[in-house]
Amino acid sequence: MRAWTFRTRGPPSVVLKLETDLSKPSSPTRSNLLIKVSHSALTPGISHAIKVFPSLPLLSRPYIPELDFSGIIELAGPDAPAEFTPGTRAFGSVPISTFLLHGTGTLAEYVMLPAIHVLQMPQTTAFGFAEAASLDGNGQTAALMVRTAGIKKGSRVFVNGGSGGVGTLALQIAKAEGAYVVATGAGENFDLVKKLGADEVIDYRVHAPLHTYLSEKYGSEPFDVILDTIGTDELFQNSPGFLKADGKFVNVGAMEGIVKGLWCAAKNSLWPRLLGGTPRTYIFQQTNPDQKTRQYLAKLIEEDKLIVAVDKVYEMEDALQAYERMASQRAKGKVVVKVQNI
Ligand SMILES: NC(=O)c1ccc[n+]([C@@H]2O[C@H](COP(=O)([O-])OP(=O)(O)OC[C@H]3O[C@@H](n4cnc5c(N)ncnc54)[C@H](OP(=O)(O)O)[C@@H]3O)[C@@H](O)[C@H]2O)c1
Repeated sequence: MRAWTFRTRGPPSVVLKLETDLSKPSSPTRSNLLIKVSHSALTPGISHAIKVFPSLPLLSRPYIPELDFSGIIELAGPDAPAEFTPGTRAFGSVPISTFLLHGTGTLAEYVMLPAIHVLQMPQTTAFGFAEAASLDGNGQTAALMVRTAGIKKGSRVFVNGGSGGVGTLALQIAKAEGAYVVATGAGENFDLVKKLGADEVIDYRVHAPLHTYLSEKYGSEPFDVILDTIGTDELFQNSPGFLKADGKFVNVGAMEGIVKGLWCAAKNSLWPRLLGGTPRTYIFQQTNPDQKTRQYLAKLIEEDKLIVAVDKVYEMEDALQAYERMASQRAKGKVVVKVQNI
């Protein structure tokens, strides 16, 4: 089978190679499913992992990058749920631990996974294989942010990064839960964020610095929740100006750099207020996708409450261009690779 692989650490453009003669996974046992991959969606965290991965364990076998996928069931193990008959259209994601320990990834023509990580695709016309591949990782992250923050009807929510893969979904899920949502979208992304349902959109480049603008405009009517999909530390440091005293700041982003992101997450979570820490609740979220949230997301799609934004679909041979696009931090939604025709 064809797959992009890496055997040493480094930037994706340097270490990823397209291999054409890898063995296809063998017949599934137990509740495993052999999936013929249609599309694979790229995740920023995997690019970080490829750069820092220890090279030693990789020498013996190639690792395949990426977690999210859509495709069809080719074969189901004897204990797999009956709905997974051959030809069933499905989506889901490889757990990060499976990728790290075994090198299992979805930028490949086939992937083998336990059925617990896979769901039938919702039967909705505007929801094709590219959208399905883009749903799970970011959708689970967005849904957990909304849940962690306790967003409910009437909550006032600010989404930083409203036009990105996570942000486009977070703002829609907050809206679906009945919140009033203000989100960022720069320049040409302004209309997309509005179309996805944000009540107000802020072009943070026009209104820089953003925290000063937020304090001036929302200081008298502060937010209950801030969902940060970028990881702008300045935003948290200044949040008392526009976030209620009992409000929650939930961050998943590390777009200011992974080292700074981890340092800020530790500092903001642990630094005591008595010693000058910012007096607001800060939560750095790590997401472990689960089947219940996958079902919740599929239901939102079927009820037309969620649009999955796809930035661009690249051919398998052009996957390195897809990585460049994601690294630009300018994608409007998810960057996707079409692995093969189904
Ligand atoms: N912790 C977790 O569980 C978890 C899970 C998934 C992702 N993540 C992390 O979350 C972050 C976002 O992921 P993603 O897939 O949503 O990224 P993405 O799709 O690449 O985000 C790109 C978007 O970010 C916006 N952006 C860039 N710089 C910005 C800034 N300074 N202020 C506001 N918006 C800005 C851009 O919008 P404009 O062009 O409109 O500015 C662009 O549309 C990444 O750091 C990723 O590693 C964490």
